[in-house]
Order: sequence, then structure tokens, then C-alpha cells
Amino acid sequence: MSYQIIIKPSGHVFVARSGETVLEAALREGFPLPYGCRNGACGTCKGKIIQGTVDFGSYNESALTEVEKQAGMALFCRAIPLADLIIECREIGAIKDIKVKTLPCRVHKLERVTPDVMVISLKLPPNERLQFLAGQYIDILMKNGKRRSFSLANAPHDDELLQLHVRNYRGGSFAEHVFLHMREKDILRFEGPFGTFFLREDSDKPIIFVAGGTGFAPVKSIVEHAFHVENLRGHGRQMVFYWGNRTRADLYLAELAGRWQQEHDNFTFIPVLSEASPADNWNGRTGLVHQTVMQDFDDLSGYHIYACGATAMVEAAHRDFTRLRGLAEEDFFSDAFTASPSGA
Ligand code: FES
Repeated sequence: MSYQIIIKPSGHVFVARSGETVLEAALREGFPLPYGCRNGACGTCKGKIIQGTVDFGSYNESALTEVEKQAGMALFCRAIPLADLIIECREIGAIKDIKVKTLPCRVHKLERVTPDVMVISLKLPPNERLQFLAGQYIDILMKNGKRRSFSLANAPHDDELLQLHVRNYRGGSFAEHVFLHMREKDILRFEGPFGTFFLREDSDKPIIFVAGGTGFAPVKSIVEHAFHVENLRGHGRQMVFYWGNRTRADLYLAELAGRWQQEHDNFTFIPVLSEASPADNWNGRTGLVHQTVMQDFDDLSGYHIYACGATAMVEAAHRDFTRLRGLAEEDFFSDAFTASPSGA
């Protein structure tokens, strides 16, 4: 049995399937309600039931007092509709609505996908989830008091594990720790989410992603989120992903991007190599990634550009796209990596 839920004051409408909590249904249908633990313990998902009834499920009384319950409040991460509902709650529409947290996490999996790129999967404590916007980053808090920033590579709906892509580079103390000493089950601490490099969902403009190396991480989060939303809404924006690397071996997870292209008519993947050698046997695009975009597009007005990677690439893309290709200043979104103190 499914039930219709209307959110006030926005007037958004979604449907909960049999046995789904209000929060699960809202997230599945692309309405980001606030949440923290998803386990009835923190109270972040609390909202008001204006009309209809729910099964309140099990929860911690400190998260929802009896007085609050009598006043019509419920924890949407536990509440299962028993009728059509009208609820009142805040919807996450911007970064200001998302709480920055400091959390411990466990290294769940380490995958060395190239000699100098490690994909790390992090598991949060059972009662914690991290709410973030696709494309945002977290800061790993090191024991020496320093912090290192890494984009989240998983989409917000896929939050069982947090995924980071870490490049090894000379002098990068955290990166060296990852490659030399880190083991699965190690405990880390991080703070986040941060950053304004997230998908602007209030636009239908086609998107061009320009990424270098591990700049793929936030692009992965945004693209997977965009596909998720597209599934729900039945239509999607055009997306072209230019991914610059030096050699063929640096194209880690290229088969994933290739699969996106096969499965989605609105997605095109263009890998670009800057130092392809004969051994690479490469017949794809070559040169600098932002220049490849310049070759392909005479006019970028009407596009959104998301650029992520080394500072020099991001700056060159910004300069050339706005000055030479008519891109509007406000349509350029970027996340530039710096090696220190917050390098990715
Ligand atoms: S998300 Fe923590 S109580 Fe619902």
C-alpha cells in the first residue's frame, strides 16, 4: 500500500511505498529532507505531522519526547505512514541547510586503482550518516593537527560508504601515509561537508565537466546524483565529461565512465591524454583537457561548466571559457586542488 505525502510549506508531493519511512521515500523521490543518524537517535529529521497517522517505529526518547509526540512531531527517519500525510518540515535547498559535523570513521576498503591513486571507502559509525550535496568535500583531520581536503566521490543517496580518491605525491604527508601505512579497519576523523562545488539543480542548462586526474571524484558524485534524479523525474540534462590525464594508465575507473555513456543517451565521455606514449596505443583525444573543450565548442554561452583539478587547469579554463567562448561568469563552478595545506 502506498501513501501520498505533501510537504508544507513547499507543497512538494511524493509517494511512500509500503513499509518505507517518510525520509526514505522523500530521499528516493529526490526531496532532500534533513537527517543525521537515520536511526532515531539524533532528532535532526524531526518534523510535524499536520494530517494523517504514522507508525512511529523505535527511537531514542531524547530525540523525540512524549510532549513533542503529543504535539504532532515525529522522526521522519523512523515514521512509516499509515495513511496519506501532510507534513511540515524544512527541505535542504542550499549549503546553509547542511550541518557540518566532526565524525570518526573506519577505513572499510583500500583499492589501489593505479600505482599512485588509491580509492578509499570509509564507514561511519552505525548511528551516523553524512548529509552532503553532490560535489562537496570533507577534511581529514590528521593526528598532527593538519587537515587534508578530499572530494566525496559517492552520490548523496549512496551513503552507506564514503568514497575518496587519493593521489600520491611527493611531500604529501597524508597521501604518503595512505600509500605506505594505512590499513583496512584504521580509524580516521574528518570534518565536513564543505564547499560550493555542487550540482545546481535549479537549471536545465547542459553541463560540461572538465576534470584532471582525481578531479574525477566530485564529478562521479555529481553525475551519479544527476542520473539518480533523472530516473526519478524521467528526464535529464545533457552532460559531457572531459577527463584529462597524462597516460592511459592514469585513467582509473574509465570503464565506469564508459558504462555511463553506454547506458545514458544524455551523457558523453571524452578522455584526453596529455602525454600519451606509443605504448599507450591511444587513438583518442590528446593535449590539454580545457583546450580540447575549446576545440569542440565555439560558444559556451548557455552551458554550465564544472571544472575540478589542478589550479593551473581550473584557472586556464575559467579565463579562456569566459573571455574567448562567451561563458557567463556565474555559470562556471570550480574546485581547484592545491597540494598544501589542503591538497587532494
Ligand atoms: S535522522 Fe537522526 S533521528 Fe532521524
